[in-house]
Amino acid sequence: MKKNLGAKDLLMPNPVLVIGTYDEEGRPNAMTLAWAGVVSSNPPAISISMREQRKTLANIKVKQAFTVSFATEDTMKASDYVGLVSGNKGDKVYSAGLTAVHAEHIDAPYFAEYPVTLECKVMDSRKIGQHINIIGEIVNVLADEEVLDANGKIDVTKVKAIAYDHTGENYIAASQIVGKAFKEGSALH
Ligand SMILES: Cc1cc2nc3c(=O)[nH]c(=O)nc-3n(C[C@H](O)[C@H](O)[C@H](O)COP(=O)(O)O)c2cc1C
Repeated sequence: MKKNLGAKDLLMPNPVLVIGTYDEEGRPNAMTLAWAGVVSSNPPAISISMREQRKTLANIKVKQAFTVSFATEDTMKASDYVGLVSGNKGDKVYSAGLTAVHAEHIDAPYFAEYPVTLECKVMDSRKIGQHINIIGEIVNVLADEEVLDANGKIDVTKVKAIAYDHTGENYIAASQIVGKAFKEGSALH
């Protein structure tokens, strides 16, 4: 028996992302964000949504650029922390123990502790309900050598990304391979 649970902001799982930005003085900020997804392959583009009061939003308006790092099991505590405290109240990058580095292609910081980061330039934005939705063109992907396989591709089992379970407010592992995409269904052809 299925039950109607009503209208909810539900996806399972959500990514756990850390958005890196600079303010007008060049001070770095980091913010946790889960309302996100890929919106285009060519050009590669990502959508992120945040509430109006976020320091990150003010920074993005100034710099028109941001980085997106994938939270991992190793960075879980810092990633959660930057989602609990606003940069409007002080330097949380320092208290999170994160190392800000100026990205090569855009005016935004990435954080050395995260193995995979997207460098994004703002393409578009719009208000949807309480959120501002921002589309960012991904102009570069930065990855630690340690998380690449022999062919230079990102190995998800090495990244150990975490995902967000909104319903239970849990972080869950997103690194276990359970099947092969575009192959599992072929037996049903
Ligand atoms: C797991 C998690 C996911 C979050 N996802 C979002 C999100 O998608 N959009 C948003 O506006 N805030 C989200 N937040 C809340 C912000 O990260 C939080 O308000 C943060 O302090 C904002 O930082 P800032 O003001 O320095 O930009 C999330 C927090 C956590 C812990």
